[in-house]
Amino acid sequence: MIGLFDTLARPLMGWLEPENAHRLAINGLKLAPLTPPAADDARLATRVFGLNFPNPVGMAPGFDKHAEVPDALLRLGFGFVEIGTVTPLPQPGNPRPRLFRLAADEGVINRLGFNSEGAEAVLTRLAARANAGGIIGVNVGANKESSDRIGDYVRQIEMFAPVASYFTCNISSPNTPGLRDLQQGRVFDQLLSRVMDARARMSQRAGITPVLIKIAPDLTLSELDDIVGAARQHRVDGMIIGNTTVTRPPTLREVSTAREAGGLSGRPLFSLATRMLAESYVRVEGAFPLIGVGGIDSGEAAIEKIRAGACLIQLYSALVFHGLKIVSAIKSELSNALRRENQPTIDELVGTDAAAMTAEPWPR
Ligand SMILES: Cc1cc2nc3c(=O)[nH]c(=O)nc-3n(C[C@H](O)[C@H](O)[C@H](O)COP(=O)(O)O)c2cc1C
Repeated sequence: MIGLFDTLARPLMGWLEPENAHRLAINGLKLAPLTPPAADDARLATRVFGLNFPNPVGMAPGFDKHAEVPDALLRLGFGFVEIGTVTPLPQPGNPRPRLFRLAADEGVINRLGFNSEGAEAVLTRLAARANAGGIIGVNVGANKESSDRIGDYVRQIEMFAPVASYFTCNISSPNTPGLRDLQQGRVFDQLLSRVMDARARMSQRAGITPVLIKIAPDLTLSELDDIVGAARQHRVDGMIIGNTTVTRPPTLREVSTAREAGGLSGRPLFSLATRMLAESYVRVEGAFPLIGVGGIDSGEAAIEKIRAGACLIQLYSALVFHGLKIVSAIKSELSNALRRENQPTIDELVGTDAAAMTAEPWPR
């Protein structure tokens, strides 16, 4: 089924306007008669923040923003799916066009701006599949016009606690003006206090749902020091590194599309995001696990992320250029690497290169 979809639909999708292609993919997944995936290699199983993942390869948020196809994505072989970003109230996001392919670079620029059907609609869908199993993370954000942005995170933690396997607080989208300021100083501290309090309040009803923070790859190292310090102090359950970048590497070939405003993802993001992951890993000192995301498009890239400090990985942009088969390709390359290196699980590889990576010249 995956091979058929890649062969028939992908050439067509490459021609379509990117947002129409995305809608076609979602609608295709709604209709596809996908059977449950073959069981994963037991070596790929891993336990992170109290959850048992069948494999470490996750669908990054932004693909299924409104929880329309989480079960289809699990059936494609992802070990977990993160839906969202969801905002409390529905909002349209920025005017189109707002999604651009950089084909020669295998990169994507988006300035969607949190287009969301809103928390009520998403909650209804997740509640309807609540007994279906699988790990579904809920990525939450703030409405553009909100007068209490931190309150938007709190409110959604309260709403989604019964159906979320974990929460991600997305404070790193470059497409909502001012959102990334939530990563700074006293405001970040307040965000963590209120969010962790909300999680504790909900735990009586819903159990303890892990809370993760997703950060930008564009932070300075001194900002990262402060963020990791506060995250450790508030005992968050994990961090995701990271979101799209507002920088444009000088190596980009699609120079005119690269001038579009928005966040860059895909292959051109890999080195920066991996370096920031390694920088985070050495600062976190094992206090909580990290998820590595940004530019993963092969088993080799996945292993580099894991060696930089990721317990779990996520991807999105590579699907645009390599199709759905990338998920099983990465999983089998991970299995082969473990066999080659005679390691029982990926846990043994996590962070092994982090310190060395932080000594390398800063990636361009
Ligand atoms: C079209 C698009 C939409 C995205 N929307 C979100 C989002 O709503 N929330 C979020 O946390 N990240 C979002 N992201 C960022 C991805 O989750 C991921 O962090 C980033 O794309 C890097 O991974 P990749 O290089 O594998 O795509 C989006 C990315 C793309 C390309």
